[in-house]
Amino acid sequence: MIKKGELYYPDKNFQKKALINNRAIYKKASANPVKFWEGLAKEIFWQKKWKKAFEHKPPYFKWFVGGKINITESALDKNLEEKKNKVALIWEPEAVGERQRIFSYYDLFREVNRLANALKKMGAQKGDRIGIYSPMIPEVIISMLACARIGAVHAVVFSAFSPKALQVRLQDTEAKILITADGYFRRGKVVNLKQGADEGIKETKVEKIVVVKRAGNEIFFQPDRDFWYQDLIKNESDWCPAEAMDSEDPLFILYTSGSTGKPKGCVHSCGGYGVQAKFTAKWIFDLKEDDIFWSTADVGWITGHTYSCYGPLLNGATFVIFEGAPDYPDPGRWCEIIDKYGITTFYTAPTAIRMFEKYGVEYPRKYKLDSLQILGSVGEPIDKAAWQWYFKEVGREKCPLVDTWWQTETGGILITSLPGIGPFKPTFAGIHFPGVNFAILNEKGKSCKIGEQGNLVILPPFAPGLLRGIYKNPEKYLETYWSECGNKIYFTSDGACKDKNGLIRIVGRIDDVIKVAGHRIATGELESAIALHSDITECAVVGVADEIKGEVPVAFVVCKTDKSAENIKEEVVRQIRKEIGPIATPKEVYLVKDLPKTRSGKIMRRILRKLFTSEELGDLSALSNPESVEEIKLILR
Ligand code: PRX
Repeated sequence: MIKKGELYYPDKNFQKKALINNRAIYKKASANPVKFWEGLAKEIFWQKKWKKAFEHKPPYFKWFVGGKINITESALDKNLEEKKNKVALIWEPEAVGERQRIFSYYDLFREVNRLANALKKMGAQKGDRIGIYSPMIPEVIISMLACARIGAVHAVVFSAFSPKALQVRLQDTEAKILITADGYFRRGKVVNLKQGADEGIKETKVEKIVVVKRAGNEIFFQPDRDFWYQDLIKNESDWCPAEAMDSEDPLFILYTSGSTGKPKGCVHSCGGYGVQAKFTAKWIFDLKEDDIFWSTADVGWITGHTYSCYGPLLNGATFVIFEGAPDYPDPGRWCEIIDKYGITTFYTAPTAIRMFEKYGVEYPRKYKLDSLQILGSVGEPIDKAAWQWYFKEVGREKCPLVDTWWQTETGGILITSLPGIGPFKPTFAGIHFPGVNFAILNEKGKSCKIGEQGNLVILPPFAPGLLRGIYKNPEKYLETYWSECGNKIYFTSDGACKDKNGLIRIVGRIDDVIKVAGHRIATGELESAIALHSDITECAVVGVADEIKGEVPVAFVVCKTDKSAENIKEEVVRQIRKEIGPIATPKEVYLVKDLPKTRSGKIMRRILRKLFTSEELGDLSALSNPESVEEIKLILR
């Protein structure tokens, strides 16, 4: 890498070999983005070509209208022509001594087809939603693809979410089938996932559960309802015709946090999502024939969908998934995996980088890490120190570091510098992906000047992979994305600014969403969970800075009964773990007499947030109860 001032550029050698190394691509794409995406769409397999590339009836839009597609044909069948025996997927189990599992494209193809046939026999049809609650095992990828094969819409729920969180999502999707596992390993212990699944399906429409045997733990098994995955696929044919899907038909629903308590089911389409997944993966990670790609994200998140499943497969690439915790059995584990498989492209989140930075340089320095060619970061802003550490200690100052901005809603990466072009600048994600039109608008709706912070928005024709709706909630879709700046502008809910080079820096969310270790959690969701506690009359949750996790939630609660602060903390934590899962556990729970409110009774979370920073609190005279702030200050002291 070559450093010029604050900017880094790929060196000549890297640049020469990179798939995209000519800046002209941006100009060409901007001149006619629809034509540009259409050109890319031609490179994936369509059963029938589209009639119209882009249709816009604000706020609704469609891509590749009239086209028929099944994404699994490009991800699997087409790869059999020249890559039948190429390794598609490598699964690394948590236990160091346990053997990895390796699937060629042909292996994966057959397994997906078998499961697709089995799902059909169970009654699954095109358009049905199928829930997936699974650890990081090959079968989770196979399950997603098997759903796509038959035109069923998969809805993956992160395996560390609580049964209650699973239940809420299953109720919303009305899935009749759930695919899960008996259990999995986490830090050497077995987690009984099936137990969670049994609880999670209560009061849902789930009639059948497919259980992958993974950990061999004892589970409750209900005949006629529960079926072992391995038994189901044993005698199935390894050919299942790929269902013809409209380009705009849903491929999957993935839930994410919005500004209110209820999770939103982001709906992604078959055609547009597929095109975007393929080309963002190919160009941003510069995927070439011999590369081995590893994205550490769990499939429970959008990064896992796009870059641990669809993106690599659509490019016929080899990729790794890992079952375990990043630092188990020791903080060298990820580095060991990088050396073991000769990972060329490594994609992770700033939280993980900060955690390893804290463990110390001795871990990465014990390993060669010389196979690495590109590093990636995603999910939250990466601070300068973490960027430098990652670049130096992991990438040995030779790997382009792509800081990739995107969202569950956007389906794929939309802002980053391309590795063969650059420039890379710590704390700046980079520029728009070719063919995507961004703006940063101030409160008056005008473009911000250099350095001025404003709202990041996407302008037409948006991107083919942008969500098409919130499942069963069109009002929320309109309100969240298409009302702030009018119905022709997609509102990202992120604050951003640009530097003189045109590089975009993501400042962070401007709604009540916090990123806890890269996981997206709405403070409203936490508040709804806490409010279920019968002794609590009022609560407020805010995000505060954390050295490792970026941000963490802290909760303020008002109780109607006489409870000790200790007891209430314990109960609130329990409540949140039950309703959402351990990832949402608040760092602190403060028992207070009153919360700062405006005269109209609105809780002033802004003031609570400021109590954790060095910022001035400002004028408190608008509050109906300024004394509450004094009381809280004493508690925090
Ligand atoms: O605030 C932005 C932040 O993550 C949000 C989206 O979260 P989620 O839907 O969970 O998707 C995460 C993985 C794509 C965004 O609104 N974010 C994502 N990537 C970055 C980022 N913030 C700063 N820099 C990034 N590279």
